[in-house]
Amino acid sequence: MDFLTLSKERYTAKHYDVNRKISNEDLDKLLEIVRLSPSAVNAQAWKFFVGSQKSMAKIMPAICDFNRDRVGDCSHFIVMCAQNKLDEASYKEVTKKEDADGRYPNHPNIRDIVDEHRIAFGKLHESLGDYAQWTSKQVYIAMTALIYGAKSMGIDSTAMEGIDYAKLDEILDLKAQNLHSVVVVALGYSSDDDSNKKRPKSRRAKESVFSFLD
Ligand SMILES: Cc1cc2nc3c(=O)[nH]c(=O)nc-3n(C[C@H](O)[C@H](O)[C@H](O)COP(=O)(O)O)c2cc1C
Repeated sequence: MDFLTLSKERYTAKHYDVNRKISNEDLDKLLEIVRLSPSAVNAQAWKFFVGSQKSMAKIMPAICDFNRDRVGDCSHFIVMCAQNKLDEASYKEVTKKEDADGRYPNHPNIRDIVDEHRIAFGKLHESLGDYAQWTSKQVYIAMTALIYGAKSMGIDSTAMEGIDYAKLDEILDLKAQNLHSVVVVALGYSSDDDSNKKRPKSRRAKESVFSFLD
């Protein structure tokens, strides 16, 4: 499916078929899509907690009332989290991995410059006081890759900000891991009575969204 068709056909699932589960193979592909998401300076200052229906009960107290019926029957979910404070060691791990993946063949000096710059960007956002917002923004990119990637595989999704963030962070003990939750994405196969399935998609008109500069 080309990306425009995908964009027209993806929709937010509002009810799942409890009997249909994502296969392990497809789940692995979804996680790979998330893992490959781009982020500023490739910092990947994020962590994703993956759960199946079994662990849904654990996070349900942190899902807002209006979302509970919508996602209660989903197959899997991912709690997408971002770093709270700059963790230089985790940045250095990225450089080490880039090196191991062959990004700097015969160029250790470039590797060291990239390493310094990445940390400098992190420090810049710390000094601006927006480090946690900056890392959250990157998580939304991964969320976007996930929901479109899922649709490309015939898997439906529900991105949710309708969550009690403080409660979710407590349930997953995120603060102790220098993390906060950003968004939860439920995944699975929507049921035939999903109200959103048959609704036409609606967006602002092109003229109101785009301003052409030349
Ligand atoms: C970041 C984000 C948070 C959202 N939170 C919720 C939510 O908590 N509950 C819900 O039912 N839908 C949620 N949505 C779905 C939006 O309402 C939906 O994407 C929008 O109305 C457009 O409809 P469509 O996704 O079906 O095209 C969220 C979407 C995004 C991108």
